Amino acid sequence: MILLDGKIAAEAMKKDIAREVARWTCEWGRRPHLAAILVGDNPASQTYVRNKENDCRQVGMDSSLYRLSSTISQEGLIECVRTINEDPDIDGLIVQLPLPDHLDEQEIIGAIDPSKDVDGFHPVNVGCMVLGLPSFVSATPAGIVDLLQYYNIPTQGKECVIIGRSNIVGKPLANLLSRKGQGGDCTVTLCHSRTIDLPKICRRANIIVAALGQPGFLKANMVKEGAVVIDVGISRVEDKTTKSGFRLAGDVDFVQVAPRCSHITPVPGGVGPMTRLSLLKNTLQAAIERKLNVKRIRL
Ligand code: GUN
Repeated sequence: MILLDGKIAAEAMKKDIAREVARWTCEWGRRPHLAAILVGDNPASQTYVRNKENDCRQVGMDSSLYRLSSTISQEGLIECVRTINEDPDIDGLIVQLPLPDHLDEQEIIGAIDPSKDVDGFHPVNVGCMVLGLPSFVSATPAGIVDLLQYYNIPTQGKECVIIGRSNIVGKPLANLLSRKGQGGDCTVTLCHSRTIDLPKICRRANIIVAALGQPGFLKANMVKEGAVVIDVGISRVEDKTTKSGFRLAGDVDFVQVAPRCSHITPVPGGVGPMTRLSLLKNTLQAAIERKLNVKRIRL
């Protein structure tokens, strides 16, 4: 069994990004710049945003954090998005999710300028991705494809089962893995809470992606001997044996499943670092396109 170490893969790729950032910074006289909006004080979101800021620093990019109160109105948040959209010195913008319940997530995402939408969540980017047109691709699916390629895991003609149909992971990943060409050409089955006989479908798979957010969900009886298992889950579960009182748990029962796999991602340290890497790649891409005045499809 080979561990798919996202930290090693991401660090290797970060060096390439840092080189590109240095080259472009020299040419333009300013660094690529990522802005993040954080609403409220969700501890997991605060950690994610802090990590993203550290990543930017590591590769020589600027980052700005806009901290907004959990009671901000829909109009107030959209105003902040618009201000960033119009700032010529900001290349990429993410609104950290989830948002408080009183805010309409889709309307906020729709307010982001698609050319700054480095999360790839805007309908224009999702639509372009599905059509195979140039677009920002959401970070976790792109990171998973990069991780498979980094470890030379073939995808062409392989059976891939994805568990979870979220807009952020399951749906875009199904598209990426089934598209024509390098890193794609899989036969994809997208499973969800209404799927009948999920264990039987999973046992067909050469590649299983667990992305449903239920700790320890994927068991050994759902995995074919020699399968590649990608664990997207990262839930905080109570653990009184740790200092913090919790630990991070994936969607895969690692102890049971790992001995059956040819390759498996750990949690943490598997998909997470690759997701963060993809965000850096998208931000660099946004900065380059801004400078070269590349026009993508706009609504
Ligand atoms: N919350 C969990 N994952 C993500 C992500 O990739 N982007 C944003 N903006 N919020 C998230």
